Amino acid sequence: MKVSRKVMGVEYAIRDIVAEARRLEAAGRRVTYLNIGDPPWYGFQAPRGVLEELSRSALAGHAHYAPSEGLAELRAEIAKKEAAKGLDCGAEDVLVTNGVSEALDMVIASIVEDGDEVLLPGPYYPPYASYIRLHGGVPVEFATDAESSEPDIADIRSKVTGRTVAICVINPNNPSGTVYGKKALSEIVDIAAERGLYVICDEIYDEIVFDGGFDGIGSVARDAAVIVLNGFSKVHLMSGLRAGYMAFSRTPALDAIREHLPKLARVRIATCLPVQHAALASLRMPNGYIADFVSGLRKRRDAVVRGLDSVPGLSCPVPRGAFYAFPRIEDERFADDRKFVMGLLESRGVLTVHGSGFGSRYGSGHFRVVFLAPVETLEGAVEAIRSYMA
Ligand SMILES: Cc1ncc(COP(=O)(O)O)c(C=O)c1O
Repeated sequence: MKVSRKVMGVEYAIRDIVAEARRLEAAGRRVTYLNIGDPPWYGFQAPRGVLEELSRSALAGHAHYAPSEGLAELRAEIAKKEAAKGLDCGAEDVLVTNGVSEALDMVIASIVEDGDEVLLPGPYYPPYASYIRLHGGVPVEFATDAESSEPDIADIRSKVTGRTVAICVINPNNPSGTVYGKKALSEIVDIAAERGLYVICDEIYDEIVFDGGFDGIGSVARDAAVIVLNGFSKVHLMSGLRAGYMAFSRTPALDAIREHLPKLARVRIATCLPVQHAALASLRMPNGYIADFVSGLRKRRDAVVRGLDSVPGLSCPVPRGAFYAFPRIEDERFADDRKFVMGLLESRGVLTVHGSGFGSRYGSGHFRVVFLAPVETLEGAVEAIRSYMA
């Protein structure tokens, strides 16, 4: 029976490679999983009050449908958070979704037609390219300097064509950990405003920044067509509960999408109500646990980056945010990053993700290591990589 070419083209490297690891485990091998950015899976649990609110809501009978746009109190609390980062928005500008993933799908579905181009930071989080292709569009990567965390503005300008509809920003970036500053964000917004493009900015790691502060794109958005994507999977340690949102900047440039996109929210009905109650509790509670999480991550980052950078044949820029190291493979014997990752898995039982899964242009020749595991596990993995390459 027929299957669409669009769906055949969907890829998600981070999960696609797990099948091979499972096969090894079934054969009795031990695997160290450093492939998925899932904090609770590694033991970073959401505060008890959040989980209590989840179960209280379920037991109170909230197993019914929620409003399609999201719970009013949650939208108001999200708007407060985004406004504090500089976005001009209120509760009516927020739409609650089943994770950033669903928000991304809805936004891309609403703006991309066959052949339209969307600029993506290279390397990028894979679902960006997958959703763009699924909706008939063409992902186009632009360069970012991994050492300085600066996007190449001239490269962005040169890649805007008559078919471009949007520039995506992932800040902090998965997989590279780069964090754009205000000047870079402002230059991207300028290009978008000049050329009549949307700016879609994913800030899911906004509070996981190690060196210096974080600038929300909202603080430089002015009248541009800026849409912020964010959620509860990373900072709020609620990945499996599936809560995210989009927040629209208050600008006439977004009038048309704001009229039509909410129809997509209505056809998929709603986000789980007890999960929304838990998300609300998470935003309202003291956020000391986030500071503890980030300081634990800083120790892991320092250990893993120092280790990887000391391995002959690798060079590892220091990620400024999120929880991923993205070393470059400089040893030509390992020029094919997928073979490198598969060989490492088979010979040493360490699962990472090949860089080409994050974009062929700027991701190839790298691999991604998630640094959520304990420092000893990460140090063991670095030594396994060292001996594998030797
Ligand atoms: C940049 C980025 N956006 C979105 C997601 C997925 O978010 P959610 O769990 O809210 O769907 C991830 C997960 O790794 C991510 O790295």
